[in-house]
Amino acid sequence: MCGIIGIVGTAPVADRLVDSLKRLEYRGYDSAGVATLEHGRLDRRRAEGKLRNLEKVLREAPLEGRIGIGHTRWATHGRPSVANAHPHATTQVAVVHNGIIENFRELRDELLEAGANFESETDTEVVAHLVSREMRDGRSAVDAVAASLPRLRGAFALAFLFDGDEDLLIGARKGSPLALGYGDGEMYLGSDALALAPFTDTISYLDDGDWAVLRHGSIEVRDAANNKVSRPIQKAAASAFMVEKGNHRHFMAKEIHEQPEVVGHTLAHYLDMASETVRLPADLPFDFAKLDRISIAACGTAYYAGLVAKYWFERYARLPVEIDVASEFRYREAPLPKNGLAIVISQSGETADTLASLRYAKENGQHVLAVVNVPTSTIARDSHVVMPTLAGPEIGVASTKAFTCQLATLAAIAVAAGRARGVLSVAEERELVHALVEVPRLMSEALSLGPEIEVLARTLMKAKDVLYLGRGTAFPLALEGALKLKEISYIHAEGYAAGELKHGPIALIDEKMPVVVLAPHDGVFEKTMSNVQEVVARGGRIILITDGNGSKAAGIGTEATLTLPEMHPAIAPLVYAVPIQLLAYHTAVHMGTDVDQPRNLAKSVTVE
Ligand code: G6P
Repeated sequence: MCGIIGIVGTAPVADRLVDSLKRLEYRGYDSAGVATLEHGRLDRRRAEGKLRNLEKVLREAPLEGRIGIGHTRWATHGRPSVANAHPHATTQVAVVHNGIIENFRELRDELLEAGANFESETDTEVVAHLVSREMRDGRSAVDAVAASLPRLRGAFALAFLFDGDEDLLIGARKGSPLALGYGDGEMYLGSDALALAPFTDTISYLDDGDWAVLRHGSIEVRDAANNKVSRPIQKAAASAFMVEKGNHRHFMAKEIHEQPEVVGHTLAHYLDMASETVRLPADLPFDFAKLDRISIAACGTAYYAGLVAKYWFERYARLPVEIDVASEFRYREAPLPKNGLAIVISQSGETADTLASLRYAKENGQHVLAVVNVPTSTIARDSHVVMPTLAGPEIGVASTKAFTCQLATLAAIAVAAGRARGVLSVAEERELVHALVEVPRLMSEALSLGPEIEVLARTLMKAKDVLYLGRGTAFPLALEGALKLKEISYIHAEGYAAGELKHGPIALIDEKMPVVVLAPHDGVFEKTMSNVQEVVARGGRIILITDGNGSKAAGIGTEATLTLPEMHPAIAPLVYAVPIQLLAYHTAVHMGTDVDQPRNLAKSVTVE
């Protein structure tokens, strides 16, 4: 996850930028850089590797400027190198960036045609050239950014510094977070409050789509429609930043909203976004092409991530998958094949049953791969291969961002397996990777359903029981939706495969029972809709979660329809997770339950 810092200062900023970047080291990085204005002119220093390399470069060629931006880079498009390190610059503007510019290829082609000279392999450089072109066309720096932002597709945060203007920094956020800091005659921006802690504890956070113009004496925030807006200013307890809620009332809300960024970060770890290929560790102790079977064991939400992955492995890698909740797997004495892979999935990496399953698999000659969020955990240490989910600390007991990062990791593994087994062609791999790259943006769009879902939750809170239905990968997601709701709102909820409706749960349907239907407009959409008709015919109340085509094709009266963007069916589980999390969250908030620490539940279950 790249780190961003910017200072509109009254004293030299280079050292302070680097110190601040050190506070963002926890996000992981492979190169770093700063840019300042030296006597009004843009100048920058960049280095591969650790910040001490950048410090060395700065000692040899210091920068004295009193306004500047800094960046730690986590490679997505283009390998770690000085040329790919940020800031990227033209003669007019320098920019640092966190996230993904999905449409960078088409923008680069357009700019190349107009004569731009590209020096890096990054997606970021197109932003510098885009803004530069607007300025050459006669726009002011602020207007040039305003004209450029709507052209960028993806989930990202940006900071700009302009040649010749000692009193202007611009920050923008769409998906990835950006905090603003208010000082005495100085202003700051940064990826989080921790980065700004040495300078100020007076912080505000940009909302999605916002951008901000920082000058020595003021910060002006505008929203995506270019209206001036004000965002609440608060005192940050930066020492406790890891457990800080930002603008959110609960950790769960913060973690739901972090998903575009952390899922992007996780995907960047496993995908080469420039070549649109999967990039798993080269030294895997097994060969996907030679595996006979995968056995997955996990608990709770992690188990549902595994259930989604079963569909992916079987479909995209033609690899049979057995999956169990870990408390069953560990005791059922399942015979395991000679050349088998066991995958254990766990946020904490400490869940007792999952750990015991891992040990059983190991004793029975399986290769063991762990998908974990805590890399120092027992499960990580005991496994042969660790594929980390880079979700960052998850505080809310009900898992949200860990789940979608597990899905991101498992999707990458499934695609890699499909390629290794010759099931997926190069073109099919590219198509799937391309689809995955779009996930952070689509998640941001899904998050914008928040206000609509908050209203809907007011009726859901009155229900005694709620049924969730889905087919294909939407089935495990229905299970996860029901789990989220019962965990934090204490409303009884069940997830069912839509096709199983007739075999039991249909008996429960009456005019009081809300039925949440997860139905992307995919190959099984019509089948799901037939089941929905059966519910409607019995007076059931439908809350349909679908996309634009689905809502057009549904042809039924629903109590509410939540419409998501169109997307590749493979990535639907990652994006559809967002509205079901929000639905559970808002219902619980309306009911006044302890959302982050629901009764009787523990974050990490280290006993059987
Ligand atoms: C507990 C938590 C769940 C989590 C499950 C598995 O039940 O409340 O949110 O999904 O444990 O935990 P793990 O750390 O192994 O993912």
